[in-house]
Amino acid sequence: MVSNNSMKIGVFDSGVGGLSVAKAIEAALPDASVVFVNDLAHMPYGSKPPQEVLGYVVPILEDLVNQGCQVIVIACNTVTTTLITELRTQFSVPLIGIEPMVKVAAQKTKSNVIAVCATPTTLASSRYQWLKQQYALGLTVLEPDCSDWSAMIEQDQVDHQRIKQQILDICNKKADVIVLACTHYHWIEEQIQTAAAGRAEVIQPEQAVIAQLKKIIKTL
Ligand code: DGL
Repeated sequence: MVSNNSMKIGVFDSGVGGLSVAKAIEAALPDASVVFVNDLAHMPYGSKPPQEVLGYVVPILEDLVNQGCQVIVIACNTVTTTLITELRTQFSVPLIGIEPMVKVAAQKTKSNVIAVCATPTTLASSRYQWLKQQYALGLTVLEPDCSDWSAMIEQDQVDHQRIKQQILDICNKKADVIVLACTHYHWIEEQIQTAAAGRAEVIQPEQAVIAQLKKIIKTL
């Protein structure tokens, strides 16, 4: 078993979304060394076809492996929902993905209405469609238009008023759980919570990913 002291963990996303995940991992595993990389030249991934994104992701993951990362967190819902199966065939280091928390939201909702905030590519993915089929049958799943959210967050030009209105619309349609299914949105979690004002619970997967990471580290 490799001790946390010598553990090198790669964290990858198109942009600043992964940074929020990398910081959470650093806080949870202070002795590990976290190598964070992003791909600002090609972000946003969330409006690009998966095959194009694959071409960007492979060399970045190769680089993380060459730097000695023993496990890599794909801190990107867009990449996970479209490409993780393919990537796992190409890489032998464990790849931990992040995907929309549809199952948890379905377990939590009392109104039977949930909202999933995600990129267009994630929403179009067969993995996301499968998650809905599997866990949200019979529920209403709202999918607000978040197509420009990651770019706004990346450029630090968030239209707070518009996002607030979108969250109010979701709450008015009775959603009582809001899933943040793009890591960029973790940066505006507080704002979303404030806009929801207790009418909906806002969830995101950082802690679940850390739990999974700890489990995998024990096996290395
Ligand atoms: N942060 C990424 C995600 O979790 C994607 C953002 C983007 O590049 O559009 O989906």
